[in-house]
Amino acid sequence: MKAFEQLIGESPEFLSVIRSADIVAATDVTVLIEGDTGTGKELLAQAIHESSNRVEKPFVTINCAALPESLVESELFGHKKGAFTGAVNDQAGYIKQAEGGTLFLDEIGELSLAVQAKLLRFIEYGECQCVGDSRLQKVDVRLIAATNRNIAEQVNKGLFREDLYYRLKIVPLELPALKQRSADILLIARHFISSLSEQHDLASPKFTPSALKQLQNYSWPGNVRELRNLCERLVVLLPGQEITEHNLPVDIVQKKEADSGRFKLPSQGLNLEMLETDLLKQALGLSQGNKSRAARLLGISRDAFLYRLKKYSI
Ligand SMILES: Nc1ncnc2c1ncn2[C@@H]1O[C@H](COP(=O)(O)OP(=O)(O)OP(=O)(O)O)[C@@H](O)[C@H]1O
Ligand SMILES: [Mg+2]
Repeated sequence: MKAFEQLIGESPEFLSVIRSADIVAATDVTVLIEGDTGTGKELLAQAIHESSNRVEKPFVTINCAALPESLVESELFGHKKGAFTGAVNDQAGYIKQAEGGTLFLDEIGELSLAVQAKLLRFIEYGECQCVGDSRLQKVDVRLIAATNRNIAEQVNKGLFREDLYYRLKIVPLELPALKQRSADILLIARHFISSLSEQHDLASPKFTPSALKQLQNYSWPGNVRELRNLCERLVVLLPGQEITEHNLPVDIVQKKEADSGRFKLPSQGLNLEMLETDLLKQALGLSQGNKSRAARLLGISRDAFLYRLKKYSI
């Protein structure tokens, strides 16, 4: 489990993914990692490679979304000199560069159907065909793919090959969003505050309980990446200091501000009649006895205000 230790989390949803990843790491099974942005897909792919017996061999990452459509095939499978204009030399593709190791295909949902077909053949038979070469070459590479898109939906729309999807998804590894494992938020925040303070050689700042509550209640659309970046900012800007909710970005505390007009019922309860009498008297005091203004302060009509004054004999 050593390689997985850098992935922080103790919630059952997260640990079950890590346990499955640990089991598949020992095999050559193709893995598809799904999860929203910033949930740790790349980190998990690296950890799988590091705990596999391919650890001494290359881990090659390819971001399918960043590859120009016209070059995908040659980047993946390589090309022979003269295969197309600009192919001035033989060039090994990413698959060949990863020989003996692991190829991480990030954002696999971006691959065209034509390249998907070639990839399927590679997964099925371990055979790779260079652009401009009729021969098939055997290559020993373990494949890990990741996506933050819903591939099942893409399959339904005809944008992703169903056979490739099932070939990739033998052991589903779906990283939960941070809000789905909110029990881990504070654990991860404390981890980053202490490790980033050490990394920047600064004294650790410390969260106040109210700041921790804000972190806990926030939805974290950018997941662990967003939390990590916030911690780094706080470490650098507030070394050794106390982090209150006022030091947190507005997005995080906004919810509280939106709620601030709401009266909070104390946990021990209250006496509603006494509270109402008190509020009526305060409104009268603030409006210097002007009943219409007092009624407006409480958001009720003058008649409703007069009715209540009578009811409580004020
Ligand atoms: N469980 C975790 N424990 C510690 N750090 C994590 C964890 N998950 C993610 N991170 C950190 O969050 C950042 C984003 O992680 P990563 O790049 O693996 O996310 P991703 O799922 O690949 O995101 P994207 O879909 O945007 O590419 C990295 O700095 C990574 O180290
Ligand atoms: Mg990624």
